[in-house]
Amino acid sequence: MQILHISAECYPIAKAGGLGDVVGALPGFQKDLGNTVSVIMPMYRTSYLYKHEWDVVHKSGANLGHAWFEFTVIREKYDSQGFALYLIDINGLLDREKIYGYDDDTERFCAFQIAVMSWLNTWPDLPHVVHVHDHHTALIPFMMQHCFGFKRLAGIPSVLTIHNAQYQGTFSWDKSTYVPQWDSWKRGMLEWNGVINPLASGIKCAWKVTTVSQTYLQEMRISSNGLEPIFEYEQGKSFGILNGIDYKVWDPLKDSYLEHHFDASTIEQGKELNKRLLCDRFGLDIHKPLFIFIGRLVGEKAADILPQVVLDSFAHIGRKMNFLILGSGDPEVEDRLEEIKQISQGDYNVFIGYNETLSHQMYAGADFLLMPSRVEPCGLNQLYSMRYGTIPLVRKTGGLFDTVKDMGDENGYGITFTHASVGDVTHGIHRAVELYKNKNEFNAIRSKLMILDFSWDQSAEQYVSLYKNL
Ligand code: ADP
Ligand code: GLC
Repeated sequence: MQILHISAECYPIAKAGGLGDVVGALPGFQKDLGNTVSVIMPMYRTSYLYKHEWDVVHKSGANLGHAWFEFTVIREKYDSQGFALYLIDINGLLDREKIYGYDDDTERFCAFQIAVMSWLNTWPDLPHVVHVHDHHTALIPFMMQHCFGFKRLAGIPSVLTIHNAQYQGTFSWDKSTYVPQWDSWKRGMLEWNGVINPLASGIKCAWKVTTVSQTYLQEMRISSNGLEPIFEYEQGKSFGILNGIDYKVWDPLKDSYLEHHFDASTIEQGKELNKRLLCDRFGLDIHKPLFIFIGRLVGEKAADILPQVVLDSFAHIGRKMNFLILGSGDPEVEDRLEEIKQISQGDYNVFIGYNETLSHQMYAGADFLLMPSRVEPCGLNQLYSMRYGTIPLVRKTGGLFDTVKDMGDENGYGITFTHASVGDVTHGIHRAVELYKNKNEFNAIRSKLMILDFSWDQSAEQYVSLYKNL
């Protein structure tokens, strides 16, 4: 089967979060199942671009509303990611260092989708399935079916995976010409709550919709930033497929970002050596349990409660633990996390920014990972932390609920709680501090974590059988 993924992110070319990890890994596993897989993404100016060789495969132009733009498609010469990788270059729109966060993101991603459609329209052999991810590519199912210029593509089955329904990419009707000439009877397939809503349109028009865990799929019918009725209505074509981990990238025995490698049989020594490096670098106490948080500092991740969690833990449990936080996002949260350094030195530190190397070192060196997320469609951090022998403390939501079993339950291996509140998280931290004192139980749980199977194999097969049904 010929599978085409279209995405705004793909690790290691460009990644802002878990979407990049998923689109970096899933295609390779689908290829291993005997499929021909390609990925198309924007050509940002990331270092990957300059370190690889490329062939120009197509040059053309198209309209975004009334403005004409030129685009070029390049292909990575040696398929070094294990699949065909195409980048679309649009000067003035996509040629930036960052993936998102610009005032003209609507124009950037509409132009990207139009360029992909225009190029796909010229392919002699069309793919058997087009798989799009999140709102940045979610207008494509509409474009394939209802834009006059792309009628040739109307018969290709489309799958939309929702990694995060909080972001929907909405824009107003005065930009409706950003969608190339379309059948005006189909206005309802673009609109939700009075505006053009790409994610809502994708859910309505894609042949199948998937989310990245079963529980998140159920949750979206109750709370999904205004899309609840659509999820209710479209449940017949919606499926939850849990993300996996790419063990080629995330293996503490081979991880090139680590100085000290380990597996389940050498976990105690391996974790201690990695923890020592972190504690030396960030001025923390190696003898106390180390709690980490890695992620976007946004409301969804409940990053706003972290400063109070740190202060309350010190006040109520005592200075019996260390905290190390890595992330960037809401400037107010960033400032508050920096501020509390002054009163928590020696047991607390924070690194504001995005740092892939440090994230791997933290998963390897920490004792516990905090994930109090208000919304977590799947969550990869808890999977990586478990693979690296770090015990997750998670709120029971979305993919966290589906992947972490409380240690109080039969065969459990993590710490779970119900509310994204300072009280619940601090209580979880208290349980963790007690566990840390009982070295036998603590080590038994860590070793159990490392051999849990969250590989991609099963999920990659589930996607392929979904495509086959189409
Ligand atoms: P989301 O996609 O919602 O941000 P996930 O848990 O699915 O959450 O994936 C987050 C991914 O991004 C993980 O690979 C995590 O290690 C990485 N990550 C998040 N923030 C940072 C950061 N500041 N520095 C390095 N890696 C980060
Ligand atoms: C999103 C979600 C996260 C998920 C990731 C990959 O960014 O917030 O929970 O793991 O996508 O699917």
